[in-house]
Amino acid sequence: MALRQARKTKQVCAPVADAAAAAAALLVWYDRHRRSLPWRALAGEAADPYAVWLSEIMLQQTTVAAVKSYFTAFLARWPTIAALAAAPVEAVMQQWAGLGYYSRARNLHACAQMIATQLGGRFPTNEAGLLRLPGIGSYTAAAIAAIAFDEKVAVVDGNVERVISRLVALEVSLPAAKPLIKEKTAALVPAARPGDFAQAMMDLGATICTPRRPACGLCPLQPFCLAATQAVPERFPLKAPKRARPNRQGAVFFTRCGDAVLLRTRPPRGLLGGMAEFPGTAWSEDFDRDFDEEKVLREAPFLVDYCKLPLGVTHVFTHFSLRLAIFAADVAPGTLASADCRWVNPDALATEALPSVMRKVLAAIKDSGW
Ligand code: ADE
Ligand code: SF4
Repeated sequence: MALRQARKTKQVCAPVADAAAAAAALLVWYDRHRRSLPWRALAGEAADPYAVWLSEIMLQQTTVAAVKSYFTAFLARWPTIAALAAAPVEAVMQQWAGLGYYSRARNLHACAQMIATQLGGRFPTNEAGLLRLPGIGSYTAAAIAAIAFDEKVAVVDGNVERVISRLVALEVSLPAAKPLIKEKTAALVPAARPGDFAQAMMDLGATICTPRRPACGLCPLQPFCLAATQAVPERFPLKAPKRARPNRQGAVFFTRCGDAVLLRTRPPRGLLGGMAEFPGTAWSEDFDRDFDEEKVLREAPFLVDYCKLPLGVTHVFTHFSLRLAIFAADVAPGTLASADCRWVNPDALATEALPSVMRKVLAAIKDSGW
């Protein structure tokens, strides 16, 4: 089983040849080049879990540069979890103003109160316990567990994803690669100093292994890095091919003569070739720009009052998405079918080659009471 797994993995990326040496090299680099950040403990000092937690919440969706001054002011106002828990939530929200994503502040306060009232004022000291707190998801739980409590867990943010996918030249695009990246990171985390390792990876991604023009010449991981060996670091992480799926729009006309409905057969070649449809306009990419009800109605099969149904239908084809507006009308008994079209009795409708999109139209018409 393990062998099969190893073979499977080998197809998309190789393991880091010497994980222990790579981690050691990274830590040597970190000791020399670590960023000085207000929430970071000094080398060799224990981190304050409250400061780590606060910083990680602030750093979600916000840059390091923007967080610094908020972090300092917040901590000065509420230096402990107990102080934060005792503060009115409005004051916390107001102190957060400008950082955005305000549910973070609400959760922060709820979390502080939960710790104060239910956990004796102490943070859970492992990943599993942290995960149970409000506002703490898998990334944040891992980050706090590693940085504040030196738990040997893999901490993977966007920076780390980039470093790891380059290190192993990962031929799988994000987001599909996420579980593999987590696995590769976990294989590198050293038993000693896992918190520093996590922060070193973040710093490396932020300062050396940058999205564009990474400074491989300065990188402690270069001897282990397959992307650097291939001289194409920027190729990783692979981007998922963007599905160019344009939107097209059009209108169909549901016309009834007694019980019979008007259908036409599509041209034999091309999309839905030879299938049946309610007659309608062309399906166009700039329908919105040109959408003009008067113009659409000029393409109606009969010069009668068509009524636009409140809901249209949408349908996704391989190469485009389609939105159809539906117009409906009754015509007088005995009216001849318009050019290219035919009247079809309701009982014969079931045997018509109506494609899904037209069946959706039919359902929408029924739903609207026609
Ligand atoms: N981004 C998120 N958490 C961070 C941390 N602890 N240090 C630096 N950058 C970060
Ligand atoms: Fe990133 Fe280059 Fe270092 Fe590889 S060698 S991890 S690509 S900076």
